[in-house]
Amino acid sequence: MCGIVAAAAQRDVAPLLIVGLKALEYRGYDSSGIAVLDRGTVQRVRAKGKVREMEALYLADPFPGGTGIAHTRWATHGVPNEANAHPHVAGRVAIVHNGIIENYVSLRNELQVKGHVFTSDTDTEVMALLIEERIAVQGMNLREAVLTTVRELEGAYAIAVISRDEPGHVVGARRGAPLLVGLGIGENFLGSDAQALIQVTNKMLYLDEDDVVEITRDSVQVYGLDGAPVERVVHESELSSDAVERGEYRHYMQKEIFEQPRAVADTLEARIGPKGVLPNIFGIDSDALLQRARALHIIACGTSYHAGLVAKYWIEEYARLPVSVEVASEYRYRDAVVPLDTLFVAISQSGETADTLAALRESRRRGYLGTLAICNVPESSLVREADLKLMTRAGPEIGVASTKAFTTQLAGLALLALELARRNGLDPERYAMLCAELLHLPRAIENALKLEPAIITLAAEFIHHEHALFLGRGAHYPVALEGSLKLKEISYIHAEAYPAGELKHGPLALVDENMPVVAVAPNGPLLDKLKSNLQEVRARGGRLIVFADGAAGMDDMAAYGAMLRVDSGGSFIAPAVFTVPLQLLAYHVAVLRGTDVDQPRNLAKSVTVE
Ligand code: M6R
Repeated sequence: MCGIVAAAAQRDVAPLLIVGLKALEYRGYDSSGIAVLDRGTVQRVRAKGKVREMEALYLADPFPGGTGIAHTRWATHGVPNEANAHPHVAGRVAIVHNGIIENYVSLRNELQVKGHVFTSDTDTEVMALLIEERIAVQGMNLREAVLTTVRELEGAYAIAVISRDEPGHVVGARRGAPLLVGLGIGENFLGSDAQALIQVTNKMLYLDEDDVVEITRDSVQVYGLDGAPVERVVHESELSSDAVERGEYRHYMQKEIFEQPRAVADTLEARIGPKGVLPNIFGIDSDALLQRARALHIIACGTSYHAGLVAKYWIEEYARLPVSVEVASEYRYRDAVVPLDTLFVAISQSGETADTLAALRESRRRGYLGTLAICNVPESSLVREADLKLMTRAGPEIGVASTKAFTTQLAGLALLALELARRNGLDPERYAMLCAELLHLPRAIENALKLEPAIITLAAEFIHHEHALFLGRGAHYPVALEGSLKLKEISYIHAEAYPAGELKHGPLALVDENMPVVAVAPNGPLLDKLKSNLQEVRARGGRLIVFADGAAGMDDMAAYGAMLRVDSGGSFIAPAVFTVPLQLLAYHVAVLRGTDVDQPRNLAKSVTVE
């Protein structure tokens, strides 16, 4: 989704802004641009496509200047082209924006009546014109003009604005979209996330909802929406610029798939030992809340939602607490019934997903026992707003397709399931066995990664198909969902997942020799049922690709396609382990189809608009 970088410095900022934009590329975008104040003029360059295309235009005709703003755009209003790319300029003002202004049509109409002419189809341009008008007609300074303008806006925004009249000043504001301040030495910055700024500083100041900030080279002042100065705490980011390097890997996604043993081990470290889950891992105040929890509502989007679905199976089976799991975009607009003493759990890699954040905020009005965030970004809005938190320690995830975020979420949710199970009377021997299994998860993932060469062969056969079905049962149905999501988002092959028992209720009609059917088939009480479902596929000539851990009767499945052995390491952790070959399959199919694996078309990493 859109990314913002801005700087007030003594040195020329255009090269810094471009480096910052490149660090934000992972968020997904379709055009980019920068604007810099250069001796009383606004210099701007914008281009559709990759940042490097915009950079080439800049390098062909560079400009100096120590005050600037920059943007990667993910189209919401208006097609991706140069005219719609940010920054937008109106008179002396230039602005970049992430979010959606919901009342832009009425604001646009009012401005048009006054004779203003629009040069783009964006909702952002209304802000540029409103700010310009307040400066030109009402004599406000840039900060006052931004403050009075954002008060009129409905919707979500993070913005950075400069004015030709005030060189050295950048004004930013946020509501419902992320923006933070980077504090340098004799220079200051704004950015959508820490990754955009880590090349220049590790001192970050996180803005709250409705904050407005003014930065210069030597000062940072934050204001509330009423214009009164407010204080915000400075944090030292632990992010290292090395963590966002691609290293020897062809794509970030491949790197992130192979980082999973380390990421999962880090997520479990100092949180579980041979005797069980350690105290207070969800926060100092977690004891009382977890003890009282009688039900859970889990809310998330995309891959994180799939992690929640796996957790439902775990928590209901081991802790015997009812769990409902729902996508955030539905939950937030539904009048959900909240049983007494229900814990609200939000799962998110980024912690900035607009729907998930809105759901968390909505939950406050619905009488939950408390809220828990399971998240990968410590400084994110979700983490700051939840009562309890468990950080997944995946490290920065750059590939748009979530991989290590998912398995570390599963590790975190497994800890939650075990903690609740212990409190709710799970047999101690079984509890100890499950803990031992969870501790083995990094090793089990490492083993699963060894399947890569076999999966590359498999992928080569897959690439000519345009459709695929994924099947699983029990906690492996969400794994099938996750496998199909991975395949569709990066290879653009249409894929759907079903609980295998549903096949005969409709999707079986699709099965013929052209339909690959991927089955997640670990050992367990449902394996025989799944085998019957696979026979139904075989009988219709469907090509089976089975991931199984070697139970009797599975080998002959190979005769109808392919059978790959995955050592699950135990039925508790199997969902996390069986996810890995599905990630590798999607990755290698996408590589062979030549798609943009790390930044697939139309998608954004951090979905900060509704
Ligand atoms: O940052 P979040 O976990 O809240 O993101 C949720 C989804 O947007 C995300 O998981 C998305 O589905 C991924 N691209 C899937 O690979």
